[in-house]
Amino acid sequence: MTLTAQRRTVTATYPSAAAAASAAVDVIDELLRAGALRNLGVATGSSPSPVYREMARRRIDLSAVTLFALDEYIGLPAGHPETYRAVVEREIAEPLAVPRARVHLPDGDDPEAYDDLIAARGGIDLQILGIGRNGHIGFNEPGSSFDSRTRVVDLDASTRAANARFFDDPDDVPRRSVTQGIGTILEARRLIVVVSGAEKAAAVAAAIDGPRTEAMPASVLREHPDVTWLLDEAAASHLSSRSLRDRVGA
Ligand code: GLP
Repeated sequence: MTLTAQRRTVTATYPSAAAAASAAVDVIDELLRAGALRNLGVATGSSPSPVYREMARRRIDLSAVTLFALDEYIGLPAGHPETYRAVVEREIAEPLAVPRARVHLPDGDDPEAYDDLIAARGGIDLQILGIGRNGHIGFNEPGSSFDSRTRVVDLDASTRAANARFFDDPDDVPRRSVTQGIGTILEARRLIVVVSGAEKAAAVAAAIDGPRTEAMPASVLREHPDVTWLLDEAAASHLSSRSLRDRVGA
């Protein structure tokens, strides 16, 4: 069997972001019941957020699971409510009863240690991803090497502008972050990409139907052996009809 034949990409479109999130929780629940989810990779952002709310609603038990965040800002004061540590604790760890000692984020002072930690813990079983309007995954901005490892990066002006909504002043948005590399993300055993909203439609279509190029970081995801795109109607609205064949529940 060729490597290509072993790849599995599912693109599913749902009538709402809540329905897409619920489908993600079905996968998480199934893996937990099978004893196949020890290390869960979590993304922050408005697209994945409903997944965590749905997990809390369904009382999914993550008490034995270790969380690995995708990325973290550099330069915010410790404890700032928009640090991804604060977001992961507030939106995921606290509602889902994950002990603090089992919540890991990359550290800009020692990025490589994060890849080592993930490997030492046996790798990420399931990575939840969102994508940026420019196709970034984590904070791997366009131009990031597909081989990249966890490292410190500069944020694109467009990313800083998109994330300004979380800050009092656009100037407060950090200029740098530390992110899992694209190579790191691809090592997760399974990927779920949750995307909602019309402002992501062009990036989703480029990632799924467009050329594989480092200018569109999410286009690398098709190389992963097990990736599931869970989209709402708006995010899926620019996809080719071929890619839309897996429409669910619409
Ligand atoms: C953020 C995060 C990404 C996230 C993306 C989209 O800046 N670093 O991990 O996937 O941008 O976020 P949102 O879903 O809020 O648009």
